[in-house]
Amino acid sequence: MSRGNFSNKLGFIMAAAGSAVGLGNIWKFPYEVGIGGGAAFLLMYLAFCFILCFPVMVAEISIGRKTQRNAVGAFRALGFAKWSIIGKMGVASGVLILSFYNVVAGWAFGYFIEMLFGNFDISNHFGEYIGLEGTHAIKVVGYTIIFMISTSMIVSKGISGGIEKAARTLMPLLVIIIVSLILYSLTLPNAMKGIEFYLVPDFSKINFEVVYTALSHAFFSLSLGMGALITYGSYVSKQDNILSSAALITLADVGIAFIAGLMIFPFVFSQNIDPQEGPGLVFVALPKVFASLGAFWGQAIGSLFFLLLSFAALTSTVSLLEVPVSYVVDEHKMNRTKAVWLTSLVIFIIGIPSLLSQGASNFFTSFIWYGGADKAKDFLTLVEDIGINTFLPLGGLLTSIFTAYVWKTKNLSEEIAQGNSKYNGSLLMKLIDTAIVYICPVVLSGLFILIVLSKFFGIHIV
Ligand code: PFF
Repeated sequence: MSRGNFSNKLGFIMAAAGSAVGLGNIWKFPYEVGIGGGAAFLLMYLAFCFILCFPVMVAEISIGRKTQRNAVGAFRALGFAKWSIIGKMGVASGVLILSFYNVVAGWAFGYFIEMLFGNFDISNHFGEYIGLEGTHAIKVVGYTIIFMISTSMIVSKGISGGIEKAARTLMPLLVIIIVSLILYSLTLPNAMKGIEFYLVPDFSKINFEVVYTALSHAFFSLSLGMGALITYGSYVSKQDNILSSAALITLADVGIAFIAGLMIFPFVFSQNIDPQEGPGLVFVALPKVFASLGAFWGQAIGSLFFLLLSFAALTSTVSLLEVPVSYVVDEHKMNRTKAVWLTSLVIFIIGIPSLLSQGASNFFTSFIWYGGADKAKDFLTLVEDIGINTFLPLGGLLTSIFTAYVWKTKNLSEEIAQGNSKYNGSLLMKLIDTAIVYICPVVLSGLFILIVLSKFFGIHIV
């Protein structure tokens, strides 16, 4: 049975960029910049994306294309069955991340409906909204279910008909709306204060917490460290140029995160909102801006924005689901449709505690205490800490060690050279080899140990 393929190079780039661009860029990135002190965080994030993540991305795509297998089967197909643990961790990360990502995507979709009906006041009730108070409960739970079902429907349609088609239409629309909102945001009072916060670095703000948040965010944002790009790479043609594809995916992702920041900080400062607001930042700041546009324009632009944010999330949830699904289809020979519905049901159930952890259930809201935090963390934060902050950098580290010392860079170069005849012996090849063999293993293992010690055990060495 054919596994399916992307229809061409652009199709792959759009799907992979669709995976990369999501809530991470528009919801998570701005609030992390806010907490991390602005431009200093931005610089760290950019450095990690280009120096550490780009080589790992090239390795993931190459492993996928070489073997034409899912994240687990790929390591086996290369002859290193023991290393398929990286893929298994990837499948687990996909399941964990999607379980809470779907919840946040449900909030974004719900805000689309609220804006459509002109309920800008919702921004003053964000806590009650995600806490599922009163009538919010039925709505928010319903939106989460709708989101999971939409994701499943796209993934069950397969690669070119489902995943690729969705990304091709939705991505360009997203860029258009963000750019229009930037132009508007710059006309607001205090806009320049926002731009200054975002673009002029204050290095005194950098501490270890900022460094590791930027690192794990770089992996999360580029969909790396969990085999998503091994999986997508497995549907790529041998004629395609992996390097230029990876470069375009990275630039698209970083570019959209960057412009999301340009859009949000003028808004935040013009509304006198604290940039350290945290996960509520876009949900609190933006509706106030839309309200200031007056009923008609506010409803039109506000609903369009949250609709597109939902679509950006959808092209990401699709790739998160594709990782476990392709594993079940390839390795357990299950039919795609059955694999999709079964996996999404399991993921939805695992996500229920996250859904209840924002106030609805005391048990899940004050769930666990670790790492010397001053109060107990909620279930969603725990899943984020394991799935994003631990598994992704670890997955990236192990992928670089595997590529450098087990599979060997000679084989990596051979795969890249297919579709790029000038690669062998080029300067670029030397740079990528050096990054994979030395820079990624050394820097990532050092940072990873420090992350785990500080995040989970409250031991701060630096
Ligand atoms: N990159 C996505 C975002 O920024 O929202 C999240 C994500 C998707 C992470 C797919 C990992 C992944 F495999």
